Amino acid sequence: MALDRKTPNDLNAFWMPFTANRQFKKSPRMFVGAKDMHYTTSDGRQVLDGTAGLWCCNAGHCRPKITEAIQKQAAELDYAPAFQMGHPAAFELANRIIDIAPEGMEHVFYTNSGSESVETALKLAIAYHRARGDGARTRLIGRERGYHGVNFGGISVGGIVTNRKVFGPLVPGVDHMPHTHLPDQNAFTRGQPENGAYLADELERIVALHGAETIAAVIVEPMAGSTGVLLPPKGYLQKLREITKKHGILLIFDEVITGFGRLGAAFAAQHYGVTPDIMTTAKGLTNGVIPMGAVLTSAEVHDAFMNGPEHMIELFHGYTYSGNPIAAAAGIATLETYKEEGLFERAAELAPYWEDALHSLKGTRHVIDIRNEGLIGAVELEPIAGEPTKRAFSAFLKAYEKGILIRTTGDIIAMSPPLIISKEQIDQLIGTLKEVLKTLD
Ligand SMILES: Cc1ncc(COP(=O)(O)O)c(C=O)c1O
Repeated sequence: MALDRKTPNDLNAFWMPFTANRQFKKSPRMFVGAKDMHYTTSDGRQVLDGTAGLWCCNAGHCRPKITEAIQKQAAELDYAPAFQMGHPAAFELANRIIDIAPEGMEHVFYTNSGSESVETALKLAIAYHRARGDGARTRLIGRERGYHGVNFGGISVGGIVTNRKVFGPLVPGVDHMPHTHLPDQNAFTRGQPENGAYLADELERIVALHGAETIAAVIVEPMAGSTGVLLPPKGYLQKLREITKKHGILLIFDEVITGFGRLGAAFAAQHYGVTPDIMTTAKGLTNGVIPMGAVLTSAEVHDAFMNGPEHMIELFHGYTYSGNPIAAAAGIATLETYKEEGLFERAAELAPYWEDALHSLKGTRHVIDIRNEGLIGAVELEPIAGEPTKRAFSAFLKAYEKGILIRTTGDIIAMSPPLIISKEQIDQLIGTLKEVLKTLD
């Protein structure tokens, strides 16, 4: 359709990401404000945020400390070149990230998004082996149903079919482990499922197939969020760690969703007690307010690059906005807010209440599985025969009308509220969802 530039607020020009554009533009859903746990819609309604935006506003919305830090930084030092120059906030934030990171993570490389963090991590892994004289290690191993953003490396190691299939041959030398979703054995499990650690042994099969000496890294989400909250079976991540270590393969945890308190610890690595070699983060790093990501590495990975003449750049990689001053200021204020308000601990304390509330939906119409961990949860619906995703999308639209924001992926409803949510608001979220599900076809 041609653009109609005569009409103010014409919706045509903006091609919206991961959105049913034609449906949206017929019936737009617009947010015009936000505060703490709520969005304000253009028609003046309050909508309870059941998703922390897109799994990112962990401290809730328009938090004064973060807003003020951004305003102050924008007025003081708006931008500094990211290459060959520095500014204090980027260093300070890196130190603060390392303070809360698992033992062994010692360095921070900044990006602007989760997708860029993933590309950075994959490139680092390949270049690390080469720097150590092990340049045949170029293969990357991901997992079915994994989501690692939308850039070519990320969709290559990722395993969500719709995100891959129309984009050509992708990055070569990639293989995938099986996903960990075993509904026949694990449906309605509270927290981590008992069954499925054996799925990590598939990595041994893949290593035997390709030869360990050709594999650079394995990348997984410790808990797969975007594909519908698939939890790691008990013992699974430990096994991945053992196998990767045994074969000299780097283990990358994609913590873009699980980072910054979502599971009740700073990172999933701490929650599950497994430390990778590289971690990718974004989203909650700045409370979602300013785009920023960070890749965390061990000293071993970092130090492998610190060779050659001192005037030489060690890693030919980086972004114009890596460590941007305003993003760094937002990050510092965000980490301070998490700490001052004890939000990671709060998530851990609320988790049992959240779990009970979610599992009270068992037996509700269309519900075939419920999964939870920390302050994250998924309710899987029986798809309408021949019309996958339609039932969950209808639930999303009805829920929005009734004043709650949920997210859907396939026929799965995913929820991940800000860590400031109250018990009453959990009741409202789940109670409203129950009403919605009862009225769905
Ligand atoms: C695990 C994971 N990795 C990467 C990304 C991509 O992040 P972004 O949308 O900031 O590029 C996401 C986004 O949801 C994610 O969940």
